[in-house]
Amino acid sequence: MASEETQETAGQKVTDTFYITTPIYYVNDVPHIGHAYTTIAADILARYNRLKGREVFFLTGTDEHGQKVEKAAHEKGLSPKDHADAMVENYRLLWRKLDIRHDAFIRTTDEEHITIVRKILQELFEKGEIEKRLYTGWYCVPDERFWTEKEVVDGKCPDCKRPVEQIAEENYFFLMSKYQDRLIQYITEDNPLFILPETRKNEVLGFLKNNTLGDLCISRPKQRLSWGIPLPFDENFVTYVWFDALLNYYTATKYLAPKEGNLKSQISSLKSAGDWWPPDHHLIGKDILTTHAIYWSAMLLALELELPKNIFAHGWWTVEGKKMSKSFGNVVDPNQVADEFGTDAFRYFLFREVPFGLDGDFSKQAMVQRYNTDLANDLGNLLSRSLTMLEKYRRGEVPEPVDSKDREGYEKRIKAWFTPREGLLTAFDGFLGRLEFHHALARLWLVINEINEYIQHTVPWKEKDEGTLSNILYTLCESLRLVALFLYPFMPSTSEKIWRQLNLEGEVSGMNLDAEAVWGITRPGTKINKGAGLFPRMEKRRAP
Ligand code: MSP
Repeated sequence: MASEETQETAGQKVTDTFYITTPIYYVNDVPHIGHAYTTIAADILARYNRLKGREVFFLTGTDEHGQKVEKAAHEKGLSPKDHADAMVENYRLLWRKLDIRHDAFIRTTDEEHITIVRKILQELFEKGEIEKRLYTGWYCVPDERFWTEKEVVDGKCPDCKRPVEQIAEENYFFLMSKYQDRLIQYITEDNPLFILPETRKNEVLGFLKNNTLGDLCISRPKQRLSWGIPLPFDENFVTYVWFDALLNYYTATKYLAPKEGNLKSQISSLKSAGDWWPPDHHLIGKDILTTHAIYWSAMLLALELELPKNIFAHGWWTVEGKKMSKSFGNVVDPNQVADEFGTDAFRYFLFREVPFGLDGDFSKQAMVQRYNTDLANDLGNLLSRSLTMLEKYRRGEVPEPVDSKDREGYEKRIKAWFTPREGLLTAFDGFLGRLEFHHALARLWLVINEINEYIQHTVPWKEKDEGTLSNILYTLCESLRLVALFLYPFMPSTSEKIWRQLNLEGEVSGMNLDAEAVWGITRPGTKINKGAGLFPRMEKRRAP
């Protein structure tokens, strides 16, 4: 969907680019499992695409303007910028801990971002896309948005259910309503994969078809909110936080995107965003779909810029069956989960347990279960028993395979997983292209368990024939190398550990998946480096 396959042209490989974003997170609060979820998803896709030889731009960052942030700063007796400077570190540290390899981190307080946002506002104003109007409406302070009389439910915000205030003031409006028909057409006809999953797309379409799209109030008078980007054509106002925030996806391509290789990015001209525009995926949570699918798309249409290739709205995590909220005191701190279970186990759990578009439930019990079954038993044991046998029977040296010894076709079945067209590679391209992370992991575990069964069937510790035994041991090493490759996007440090224990050259991060995901690359004679077990079982770790 997003990126095309690497193409073979006249014998020369032509690689393309892959641009992926997460929402930029508010700095009024500390990161929770929801923030970690989207960011890890983006990291998985970024790593996969790098492994496929694509030039990747993975952008995340923080949303630092607006009333919520201003309020949080005042409560702490800090200026909004000082508050943001301190809070942004929570994200940076968490991303390091979770092995997030983003290419850039945007802050909406960056000078360059502010300059470009102001240029864009000016351009839209001059094009007649922004107009000043007297506005009377019901305002929800926590959500920072106006609602119409019809939308308000018993004096409360229809979204967050908190009381709204009536406000009459002059403000600037982005003339979004005129894009209603073009949006409907864009979503239905031109780009069926624009909004995913399908159910979310239908929600957006339903909304657009059954309602009259209004214009969007994009300013706040300075006396009510000072913490924002001043409008270039009227400094008595600052711009609405969402208008500033959504533009991050574009502004970043002008000053944070890599300029190496075949990519050019020029900050001087608005129209040339370099080769990075449009993004392949905006990953977001389901609650911020309207702002992305409607506001952002209309803004891009007004700017005559291409729309993103895909917006994917994932589901929400509950915690032990309950909505996660500060008032329940059940907010999951990703730092704690990573400390207790390890970063890779956390990453694995989030993407194995629940399909990306659906809601899921987080519990320690489910984590321990997945950890012990899939990680300690299936994967960890496979590596340790394979390497133990190699040490015991071949003094830790990878033997020469003897193909003729594949007596019952077992090896043939395993090798079939690693043939280009029918094997894992094609399956992964399909699953990850559709963001079906859980399917990719389930398929990989099917292979891992087939290799475990292979050991059960061939019973190497009873094997008397040396050639047959060599063949089995080679098959195990080579399949573990291939498992490490496919594991890499999801569990990068586990993948590198397996790679090092197999004593393979280089690092997985520097490999090209298409070139490496073929059978027979491990060299006989390689001396393995059996190390510590990957996933000590949970009960044991807890014992004093
Ligand atoms: N600043 C805006 C986004 C601007 S993007 C141009 C924002 N920030 S946020 O800090 O509130 O981050 C919200 C993100 O966390 C959303 O993608 C939201 O869906 C996600 N989640 C919040 N709670 C969540 C769960 N319980 N589960 C999964 N994701 C959740 O909104």
